[in-house]
Amino acid sequence: MTDTKQHHRIIMTTSGRQGRPLRPAQQELVNHLLPRLSIDCHAAPLEPSSVFKQANLHDYALEIGFGSGEHLLYRALHEAQTGFIGCEMYPQGVASCIAAIHQHEEKSGKQLSNLKIWNQDARILMSALPEASLHRIYLMFPDPWPKKRHWKRRMIQADFIKESARLIMPGGQFILASDHADYREWSLVHFANSEEFELQARTYQDCLAPPDGHHQTRYERKGKAGFPMFFSFLRRNA
Ligand SMILES: C[S@@+](CC[C@H](N)C(=O)[O-])C[C@H]1O[C@@H](n2cnc3c(N)ncnc32)[C@H](O)[C@@H]1O
Repeated sequence: MTDTKQHHRIIMTTSGRQGRPLRPAQQELVNHLLPRLSIDCHAAPLEPSSVFKQANLHDYALEIGFGSGEHLLYRALHEAQTGFIGCEMYPQGVASCIAAIHQHEEKSGKQLSNLKIWNQDARILMSALPEASLHRIYLMFPDPWPKKRHWKRRMIQADFIKESARLIMPGGQFILASDHADYREWSLVHFANSEEFELQARTYQDCLAPPDGHHQTRYERKGKAGFPMFFSFLRRNA
């Protein structure tokens, strides 16, 4: 794996805002649960199967920038045989996700064993994962960075697509949602330039329908930038 320090030159895809400090009770819950839920990324390559203690997982998925984790947690609860790794750098988002996991575990009396959290830049974790180790990557409503001078901060770039292609096994999918028309166009052009991915939709209407098992987040409901569209890119055979 590439060490975190070697990533000091990667361009930030967030504003770097930390938001308000966590309330003492939130911080306490994070301190209590994050060690169990987080991933130790220092051994590379990091096999997803070694990340989860649960033995009967059939496949592995990554969600990049899970916000408060509504989509991530919903999928983890409804797809019990998939190991989900969620990445989010914003401390308030991580704390909200952990609070929701805690609430679920209190109610069900069971520990959630198919969800892990990475609370640093997703690209650091990606560099530690081995080739063809994931079935799906979700990038749901990434920050659109509308101003031209900020386009370099957009998550979707040629090297990010290349890295995603390295991680997704042939037949797997990259799933993108966006409510920002310009970012959608940017993304479609970048994916069209990639030999490794193929857009699965055939018509415009296809892209209006959310993928199976989709769960709306608060961010999606607000629809600040417009209406949502969903794109599934199939990882071609090498
Ligand atoms: C616009 S929000 C959408 C959140 C969520 N996906 C949803 O639909 O509600 C984008 C999120 O991506 C996170 N993010 C941006 N760059 C990231 C990175 N390099 N690694 C991990 N998370 C990142 C941001 O902190 C932010 O919470």
